[in-house]
Amino acid sequence: MKTLVIYTSQTGFTQKYAQWIAEKTNAELMELKDAKKKDPGFFDAYEAIAYGGWMMAEKVTGISWFLGHAPLWKGKRLAVFATGAGPNANPELDTALEKILNAEQKKYIRVFYCQGGLNYDRMKLPYRMMMKMYVSAMSKKKNATEDEKKKAAMIAESYDVADIRYAEPVAAYLTDKTDG
Ligand SMILES: Cc1cc2nc3c(=O)[nH]c(=O)nc-3n(C[C@H](O)[C@H](O)[C@H](O)COP(=O)(O)O)c2cc1C
Repeated sequence: MKTLVIYTSQTGFTQKYAQWIAEKTNAELMELKDAKKKDPGFFDAYEAIAYGGWMMAEKVTGISWFLGHAPLWKGKRLAVFATGAGPNANPELDTALEKILNAEQKKYIRVFYCQGGLNYDRMKLPYRMMMKMYVSAMSKKKNATEDEKKKAAMIAESYDVADIRYAEPVAAYLTDKTDG
């Protein structure tokens, strides 16, 4: 199956997952900025297309480009994978992921989450400032629960919880020749 993995990454986590998924599916890898320059006909050759972006305030960066094209690609296998600072399998995340696609898009696109982490060294200044404000608001929160305090302490520093096993479901979905 000819597969394309398109991604955008600021600090490297989404890029790492895009590479893992591409290796597992024998796919071509392309940055979103390069995909944007391609003519619509370029994508005809692919039977499966995955889009990866990082979570910012519970939205997937760059996804509007992919969702704008997706209606033309209904006959292909389509997946979105998002990386974020939060761990896989947490209820807040499920609520955010649920809102990424509308009912119609859910019929032909599957969403996956791949836990990444935070890398303050590679983060651009405006984003670092936004994170700093978020961490500060969280740590100052009155009556914060133990969980919230732990989370605030965790996201104040860089960490890497990316793991190739979170790429596996995405790869399996892209290469599965059955419907759904
Ligand atoms: C301004 C900002 C907002 C963020 N919002 C979220 C979020 O809502 N949920 C989440 O899990 N991670 C959030 N993150 C963390 C990034 O999504 C995470 O570090 C991601 O793995 C970065 O991917 P990249 O290395 O490909 O840029 C945020 C990061 C920044 C800088």
